[in-house]
Amino acid sequence: MTTEQIQANKERFRELCRTYIKRDGVEAILTMLEKGDFYVAPTSSKFHLNEPGGLCLHSMNVFDTAMKLLEHVLKPAVESGVSPFTTLPTAESVAISTLFHDFCKINLYHEAERFKKDENDRWVKYIGYQIRDAFPFGHGEKSCFLIERFMRLTTDELLAIRWHMGMFDMGEQGSSQRFSFYRALELSPLVSLVHSADMLSSNLLEKTTEL
Ligand SMILES: [Fe+2]
Ligand SMILES: [Fe+2]
Repeated sequence: MTTEQIQANKERFRELCRTYIKRDGVEAILTMLEKGDFYVAPTSSKFHLNEPGGLCLHSMNVFDTAMKLLEHVLKPAVESGVSPFTTLPTAESVAISTLFHDFCKINLYHEAERFKKDENDRWVKYIGYQIRDAFPFGHGEKSCFLIERFMRLTTDELLAIRWHMGMFDMGEQGSSQRFSFYRALELSPLVSLVHSADMLSSNLLEKTTEL
């Protein structure tokens, strides 16, 4: 991603926040983001969008995908009565639960010297990412906590952000975590929406850079 693309993505992110989120705290969140590496961080160390600017772009990909799922999957299902849910999440809730879902990754990935074998089987140095978590508080739960310092979240938003990793962030079979996740799926349509949008974006829309 070029510096211009990173800058353009930052501008779109700020615009999306101000267009869709009218709740108190949105400006405080945008100010907080200026202080960390959100706009230049990768979204993973080795996988999808593992490049500068990846985290901001991924967050917007999840927003775009969730809005499509809302419009083309959930809304027709609720309106026709086939869905177990009778009400739709608001666009504001979708925006908050997607644009902010990976705040746990702010200041998490740090550039570090790494080694790999080249085509001649010799060890060569390259710059990769190393995870150093100054506040190891979980994944979705950490995002919820960081957002809540600036903005009150609804129960649906908390559940959707907490469980956005779905079964990929899960304890052993029969654990209380699993029961909580299944229950969260039953309680709010936003949980499936955000988890699916995260999954689809990471796996269908985002490439991995060979470092
Ligand atoms: Fe995540
Ligand atoms: Fe994500």
